Amino acid sequence: MQSFWQSLTKPFFVMAPMADVTDAAFRQLVAKRGAPDVFWTEFVSADGLYHTREIKKMKDEENPLMGILSKTPAERPILAQIFSSKPDMISYATKLVAGLGFDGVDLNMGCPDRAIEKQGAGAALVKNPKLAAELIRAAQEASSLPVSVKTRVGYNKESLDEWLIALLEANPAAITLHLRTRKDMSLVPADWTLMNKAVAIRNRVNPSVLLIGNGDVQDLEDAQIKISESGCDGAMLGRAMFGNPWVFAGRKTEDTPLALKLAALIELAQDFEKLTPPKNFSILKKHIKAFVTGFDGAAELRAKLMQASTSTELSAIIANHTGNDIL
Ligand SMILES: Cc1cc2nc3c(=O)[nH]c(=O)nc-3n(C[C@H](O)[C@H](O)[C@H](O)COP(=O)(O)O)c2cc1C
Repeated sequence: MQSFWQSLTKPFFVMAPMADVTDAAFRQLVAKRGAPDVFWTEFVSADGLYHTREIKKMKDEENPLMGILSKTPAERPILAQIFSSKPDMISYATKLVAGLGFDGVDLNMGCPDRAIEKQGAGAALVKNPKLAAELIRAAQEASSLPVSVKTRVGYNKESLDEWLIALLEANPAAITLHLRTRKDMSLVPADWTLMNKAVAIRNRVNPSVLLIGNGDVQDLEDAQIKISESGCDGAMLGRAMFGNPWVFAGRKTEDTPLALKLAALIELAQDFEKLTPPKNFSILKKHIKAFVTGFDGAAELRAKLMQASTSTELSAIIANHTGNDIL
């Protein structure tokens, strides 16, 4: 069946899923300034969704995991990213996500978090290609949504010949390759030369699967270079969005005036309260660090903003600090 993936113009540029970052408020901020070709939610535990809804019978409005799956119409197409090592849980969560109106489901097979790996999920699946294929099949059979996978190039060492082939044979719509191994964590630079190898394998084994490269992409210009040198179909940008919700509009972070950055931070905090209610305001600290940097007095303003616990406090601190003349 045709999915939105087939109608994307290549090369395309997508938003990385990031826990406690790409929530509905942040996605909204990015959508207004220059939308990526595809949005992603933060990852969410399929087992957790099942447990909270079916065993604990938690109301969806009060369930923080369901909060992760909240979205607004501005963010389209959008994928929900789920993780589990159990096919029946993947099936459950995929049906749920399809019912919520997502455009696709993405399976996380790259997260190095020990708690997730202990469940046999995330990056642990790189060591278990047979189970990974079963999970993909479970998602494919659960709904008509396109299924994609986000993973790494290997576990202790690059193993594309085995791992990528197993994924391609399971026929997902797209595979995002974070161009590091599990062992690399984020300690070494992403190795984009491996994307050339991945593209060659893809062209041989299953040319219909889209390949998206990820890791250390600085901005859209850098993404274009990396895509044309490696031959992949698209690039995923993660940390490049920090403090720069204009990144998909082609703007580099240093080109944005301070006043616009501070106004964006205030808007994010306001939307965070409206759209992401079950989460603690302190989650915004990452964004405060990213937006409030690189100008005289940034450290002082940052320290004050770290104390804010509401959007009203945050905007008052900014107004006081700048004497209102910057906004
Ligand atoms: C704060 C943070 C949260 C992340 N959360 C997720 C996640 O929920 N799912 C996922 O697949 N990857 C997650 N990642 C990994 C990113 O999606 C991406 O693969 C990684 O940051 C490398 O891309 P970049 O160099 O463009 O940031 C996270 C990374 C960071 C820094």
